[in-house]
Amino acid sequence: MASGNGSNALNLINIFYVGKTGSSSINISAVISNVGDAPVIDKVKKTAPNLPVFTIPFGSLSERQVFENKLENIIDKYKIKYIILAGFMKILSKEFVSKFPFKIINIHPSLLPAFKGRDAIKSAFEYGVKYTGVTVHYVTHEVDAGPIIYQEIVKIEDYDTLESLEAKVHIAEHKIYPAAIELAMNADKPQR
Ligand code: GRF
Repeated sequence: MASGNGSNALNLINIFYVGKTGSSSINISAVISNVGDAPVIDKVKKTAPNLPVFTIPFGSLSERQVFENKLENIIDKYKIKYIILAGFMKILSKEFVSKFPFKIINIHPSLLPAFKGRDAIKSAFEYGVKYTGVTVHYVTHEVDAGPIIYQEIVKIEDYDTLESLEAKVHIAEHKIYPAAIELAMNADKPQR
């Protein structure tokens, strides 16, 4: 599920769908966005024209229940076992999350528990930490706080700008997210 640019979603699609090898048991069944004109939608359609893409509006909180009901229909229809959040910018309800324990995975652009929430790369940069990174974790009802599956450190050099740091963090994301997903699915239980 993605809401925006979609670089992580595209990376996963390129690895597990377009370039899928016999050695991986991971199948991507569908891409879901809550934003009708999100760049991720066009990118997925171009890269993987046969991959089902669904747009379910979820902007304000009042749309969440309908979004989650439709999402559950898609999960049932495609027999989806894992929900992968890749820049999905909305918070799922406690009720929804509790139905899928250790089945919803998210990537966050900081070394959690530091710099939770939005603009994590900017917050780390402005704070002046020397190391930040990327965290892949299970989603629980508490935002950016579920059990950690995998982390990667990104060093902030004195010459880094916010832009160069963002680029480094995204490279780390693209490197570790596929591996962390494989790790989680192969273990099928929290790695702690
Ligand atoms: C990534 O930095 C991810 O960690 C965060 O949202 C951003 C999404 O970027 N959750 P993209 O849409 O995958 O390019």
